[in-house]
Amino acid sequence: MSLDKQKIIELLTTTDAETLYKQADKIRRENVGDEVHLRGLIEFSNICRNNCLYCGIRRGNAQVKRYHMSENELIETARKASEIGFKTIVMQSGEDMYYTQARLCRIIEQIKKFDVAVTLSIGERSYEDYKAFREAGADRYLMRIETTDKDLYHKLDPEMSWQHRYDCLMMIKELGYELGSGIMVGLPEQTIDSIADDLLFLKEIGVDMAGIGPFIPHPQTPLAQEKGGTLELALRTMAVMRLLMPDINIPATTAMESLHPQGRIKALQAGANVVMPNVTEGEYRRLYELYPNKICVNDTPVHCRSCIGLKIMSIGRKIGNGYGGHRR
Ligand code: 5AD
Ligand code: FES
Repeated sequence: MSLDKQKIIELLTTTDAETLYKQADKIRRENVGDEVHLRGLIEFSNICRNNCLYCGIRRGNAQVKRYHMSENELIETARKASEIGFKTIVMQSGEDMYYTQARLCRIIEQIKKFDVAVTLSIGERSYEDYKAFREAGADRYLMRIETTDKDLYHKLDPEMSWQHRYDCLMMIKELGYELGSGIMVGLPEQTIDSIADDLLFLKEIGVDMAGIGPFIPHPQTPLAQEKGGTLELALRTMAVMRLLMPDINIPATTAMESLHPQGRIKALQAGANVVMPNVTEGEYRRLYELYPNKICVNDTPVHCRSCIGLKIMSIGRKIGNGYGGHRR
């Protein structure tokens, strides 16, 4: 659907929220059906070279107990996730250079043997790295642009470059990955106007998946005193994304559930068709704290898989049994 910026702003602000959610739900059903695709998310390292002001695992947060899984631990976590039925494994971490190109390629090759799609969510790397990961078998890549307001982006991380992140997204796309990107809403100084630009940007670059989550201030970061995003703004933004790009994958994000116990269910009924349950084990779940009040920190992969499965069935939807890619 093509919507102009004025119309998008209206949908994000004055349109009755329930009406918007219903419309997005209808477009979702007509275009991607009732299947909800599950991705098993492995948070394999909380070590990060970056220092984004909003992020709980920023380099400057000395209170974080740092970890990374060993190569074998990561592969074993993926194997178990595939055994409990996940057809996509998402490998997510901070920008941890212990994970060299060669090490990641070995890991990807092993995980691909479990008959799963592999998604990487490991931030900015070189073209050569992206190319090698793709050749090793990685299918998809997730990297949010976070905001298209370049000044705000640079304020949120003075050491990073918006242009460089954009260039990385273009490399990923050119290499034939399915590309996931997205934004946070409710960032300090972020405007509705700018969120409308973000949505048009995601459409413009032709993402295959778009993740939208509320910014949740972390107490151990410089943004501790900020307000953060609301569930309503995140849901509205996600619903408009569905109207703009009817057939892409849109996750009900974990951050939404952190704001409300039914956050993901509300999202699935307002345009979303993907959920990414955590399959990280043990203490690592708690240590991978991008924002506070993260859900499921004391749960196990099996528990989360059945919990979300029941929730999905309770709203009359079904679990997808394929890889759940974005077919064009
Ligand atoms: N609140 C909400 N989302 C966050 N992320 C990072 N920090 C926070 C926070 N404080 C999101 C970013 C990142 C993704 C992995 O998590 O959008 O891309
Ligand atoms: Fe983890 Fe419900 S998804 S407990």
